[in-house]
Amino acid sequence: MKPVRKPLRMLRPVPIYIISVGSLKKGDVNISTVSWVSPLTKIPPRIGTAIDKSSYTHKVLNKYRRYTLSIVGPDLLELAKFIGTRSGREIDKISVTGVALDPAGDGDTPYIKNSLGYVLVEVEKVVDFWSTTLFAGRIVEAKAREEVFDNRWNIEAIPFPLHLAKHEFILCQGKLTTVVKTKWGIAMKKPWRTNIDKEE
Ligand SMILES: Cc1cc2nc3c(=O)[nH]c(=O)nc-3n(C[C@H](O)[C@H](O)[C@H](O)COP(=O)(O)O)c2cc1C
Repeated sequence: MKPVRKPLRMLRPVPIYIISVGSLKKGDVNISTVSWVSPLTKIPPRIGTAIDKSSYTHKVLNKYRRYTLSIVGPDLLELAKFIGTRSGREIDKISVTGVALDPAGDGDTPYIKNSLGYVLVEVEKVVDFWSTTLFAGRIVEAKAREEVFDNRWNIEAIPFPLHLAKHEFILCQGKLTTVVKTKWGIAMKKPWRTNIDKEE
């Protein structure tokens, strides 16, 4: 084995999301691309997104403390690259791109209409991590396009994009991707299950 200069690249590929923050009613929406997203608790479903402190998204998120993550499909890859390399401090990414937004379940936070699906997150904890802040909280709404999600992503039906490194993305393309089925979940007793998991 050889030493790796950029170790975080070893933890990829990962899905790509468009984070939408701000209020449709007040007209201060910003969108940008994120991939530093992690599940945190299963019951209830909670996730955290690490956001760079210098970004405009960070500023707006601190004000509203809720966001949507729209799952990027093949049609949104170019948009994700564009908004992931421009700041809302300099341009209004909504009007420049002309991207279509719809309100999520709270009636005010937008999601990307042409995405594969979205989750709406109510931030419960804001945790400082050096140059980033983790905005962690509950998924209060989750919706997916019927034809592409059936209890899991139907990657047989859509080329599912993943971020590999910098400007390189992967498309997991239907028949070229092998889904390996295991007996996991049937045979295992889940000894790692803790009481914390069962709370609430
Ligand atoms: C594929 C991809 C993934 C990214 N993931 C993150 C991330 O998880 N967190 C983050 O703070 N920035 C991430 N970025 C960078 C932001 O999208 C970028 O800094 C953006 O310009 C911030 O815009 P804003 O100032 O309008 O918030 C990512 C960019 C790309 C292209």
